[in-house]
Amino acid sequence: MRLDLKRLFKKEKQEHRILRQIERSGDLVQPEYHRATPECPHPERWSMFDSMTAEVEVLEFLRAVVTTIKPELVVETGAFSGISTLWIAEGLKANGRGRVISCEFDPVVYAKAKERIENSNLARWIELRNESSLEMKVEGTIDLFFGDSDIPVREQEVRRLLPQISPYGLILMHDASSHLKLVREAALKLEAEGLISVVLLPTPRGLVVAQKRAGRDVSS
Ligand SMILES: C[S@@+](CC[C@H](N)C(=O)[O-])C[C@H]1O[C@@H](n2cnc3c(N)ncnc32)[C@H](O)[C@@H]1O
Repeated sequence: MRLDLKRLFKKEKQEHRILRQIERSGDLVQPEYHRATPECPHPERWSMFDSMTAEVEVLEFLRAVVTTIKPELVVETGAFSGISTLWIAEGLKANGRGRVISCEFDPVVYAKAKERIENSNLARWIELRNESSLEMKVEGTIDLFFGDSDIPVREQEVRRLLPQISPYGLILMHDASSHLKLVREAALKLEAEGLISVVLLPTPRGLVVAQKRAGRDVSS
């Protein structure tokens, strides 16, 4: 086996390591291995492709949300290998309308996601961008937002895009388990400020389902 000295001496980014693994073994479904939490004591009952990609059940949920609320515009942050983007696009294809804009700031990871999307039959529903969620500019009203980028920037992403999110739309924030903490705390802080209303789904890595508080005002 050829020794890759660069990799040996430099700590490899987790994203790149998992991408190499996918290249070697393909997309394998395995039991979820995020640790048990009080709200989700049996994570092994869920499935995952890898520890970066959202749980398979969350992917199914994403697709079902898309077919349920029929968004014109979906925005996703953090494409990784493009799997969640494709499940969202499957919902859009079933609806026969809408588009998803997804961003991935790592150029190596972006190239892999791009390749996966181009090799699918769903590319026409997807606009994949090699940019940071904190810089991305989106035109129009967002009907569905899925935040799945770097955990510490999730709060900032929602604050940034909130004015463009429809009051009747949905805000989903991944990695909101009590163990991962930060996203959960961010969502509850936004709720305490009166900006959004939050439901915490007890999945292995945790999922926030939220809506702008404005959407709950009966007089609006
Ligand atoms: C958890 S993975 C996304 C998984 C993907 N949504 C899925 O379920 O298939 C997070 C990805 O976000 C990317 N990322 C992190 N911070 C970002 C940012 N500020 N803007 C865009 N991408 C970001 C990382 O490079 C990584 O590939």
